[in-house]
Amino acid sequence: MSLSTTTGFRLLPGRLSPEAQSELLEEVQARVETAPFVHQVTPGGKPMSVAMTSFGPLGWTTDAAGYRYEPRHPTTGEPWPDIPQVLLDLWSELADPLVPPDACLINFYNAEARMSLHQDRDEADLRFPVLSVSLGDTAVFRIGGTKRTDPTSSVKLSSGDVCLLAGEARLFHHGVDRILPGSSRLIPGGGRINLTLRRASPLT
Ligand code: SIN
Ligand code: FE2
Repeated sequence: MSLSTTTGFRLLPGRLSPEAQSELLEEVQARVETAPFVHQVTPGGKPMSVAMTSFGPLGWTTDAAGYRYEPRHPTTGEPWPDIPQVLLDLWSELADPLVPPDACLINFYNAEARMSLHQDRDEADLRFPVLSVSLGDTAVFRIGGTKRTDPTSSVKLSSGDVCLLAGEARLFHHGVDRILPGSSRLIPGGGRINLTLRRASPLT
């Protein structure tokens, strides 16, 4: 089945060259010095296996009070670092040339981390896509439909791959079953970084 033509899920394998991946990794590492990865807690009280931070005006946050976007890092209290230009350029090319993203969630997966099936629906205006960039170890990504019970497909996301949840696929359930340790040498010590660009706040 061709996911890309039928559903609004667009996968661009190897969209970032190895050099571009290394450069983006450096940009991430520089920002993580002041905005460290945090294992946030779900509203139900469970620490997430994926460690997270954010770039941009808003960052996705979860704690006992629920899921939401916040302008400051949950532990440092500082504003989030800026979104790297290469990501703003990708958004402009693939998502929306006029309205920039205002949130970039960065997920770090170690060998044990996974993310259960969910929808991205904390953003105010779901007409904007979610644009995802993968770095490091390959993920076994799962994507289904708008209903939780819809059939799902498994898609491997490798370092340098870019994908979009757009249009009909914007509210498709998705998650990460596991990562494949040792599948990339990009990140020292291994692991996977996923960056998702979003438009979180409404247009004014
Ligand atoms: C997410 O849904 O936030 C992450 C998806 C991914 O890690 O590829
Ligand atoms: Fe998501």
